[in-house]
Amino acid sequence: MKDKIKTLQREIAKAIQEARTPTALDEVQNTYFGRKGKLTMILRAVRDLPEKDRPSIGKIVNSAKLDLESRLNERKAMLEGQGSSLDEEWADVTEPGIRPPEGHLHLVTHAIREITSIFDTIGFTRVRYPEVDWDWYAFESLNMPADHPARDEWETFFMDAPPGKKGKMVLTPHTSNSQVREMERGEFPIRMIDIAKCYRRQSDVTHVPMFHQFEGLYVDKDVSIAHLRGILDYFVKAFFGPDRKTRLRPFHFRFTEPSFEIDVSCDACGGSGKNEQGEKCRMCKRGWLELGGAGMVHPNVLSAGGIDSTEYSGLAFGWGVERTYMMKEGLKVDDIRTLYRNDIRFLKQF
Ligand code: PHE
Repeated sequence: MKDKIKTLQREIAKAIQEARTPTALDEVQNTYFGRKGKLTMILRAVRDLPEKDRPSIGKIVNSAKLDLESRLNERKAMLEGQGSSLDEEWADVTEPGIRPPEGHLHLVTHAIREITSIFDTIGFTRVRYPEVDWDWYAFESLNMPADHPARDEWETFFMDAPPGKKGKMVLTPHTSNSQVREMERGEFPIRMIDIAKCYRRQSDVTHVPMFHQFEGLYVDKDVSIAHLRGILDYFVKAFFGPDRKTRLRPFHFRFTEPSFEIDVSCDACGGSGKNEQGEKCRMCKRGWLELGGAGMVHPNVLSAGGIDSTEYSGLAFGWGVERTYMMKEGLKVDDIRTLYRNDIRFLKQF
């Protein structure tokens, strides 16, 4: 009898556990707990047992009954609580998962990494200098004394902070503040690439108040314009593609002499300045795109950095990261501000 009860208890517990819907569970209840149910029958059978066996067997049956009833109620609550059948919710654990959306780096970060690695290959080390700096490094040491009109070109944000020995504090309007800072380290040759944030009071389709520049500086004995050309050609071909050409156009900066603007041949018209219909190319000026400034470091700047300009010479260049990136093949972003609107639909495309 005892064994019979244990076996039945196991059978019922299993049936309860396997019921997947409230209806299926009702059936289990009828089969076992109903008037003619197997459990009911056993309970009844206890009554017919000899008196001496009744209390011990009765105890076992009752505790089995209580156990099963609580299992039944628990299962019932669970199935009803779900409000749907387990069959519908059955999960195939071997099914391949759904990938969660994956982010990626901002395109400006990509550009910075690419530029860094291109220069790394020819021995230029990436350095970092303050993005909030003294007037001395941003202007004065670059041959631009206070109140010099050339400063107007760099529409500067000034910090509301007391001036120090090196003048006022500014949000760096270009990365050229890194030139004298790097020279002060006193290690030669200097081959640095400084990529940093710059700030100017400007905002339109081709300007944002916060942008990035990369500044290259090479100082050694006998550095010449030939080196400048070589570095430019190498960078332009590595970054834009082997078919692109460079040109130096005379320009003026206070901190380089001679100074140049660097142009890159236009990709859209192949440098001809004309589109397929023979009309003026809309992407460039007569086949060329302006990349940015460069030149041979002015002797006054070398002196400001504690370098003897009769012994050493140097070259420097400084270009906008966003601008340079947007000149890359096939990338036609018509408003530079889009880069910083953080609209995922735009950023996802890169
Ligand atoms: N700092 C200059 C600018 O912001 C660019 C430049 C850098 C020019 C180095 C010459 C040499 O326009």
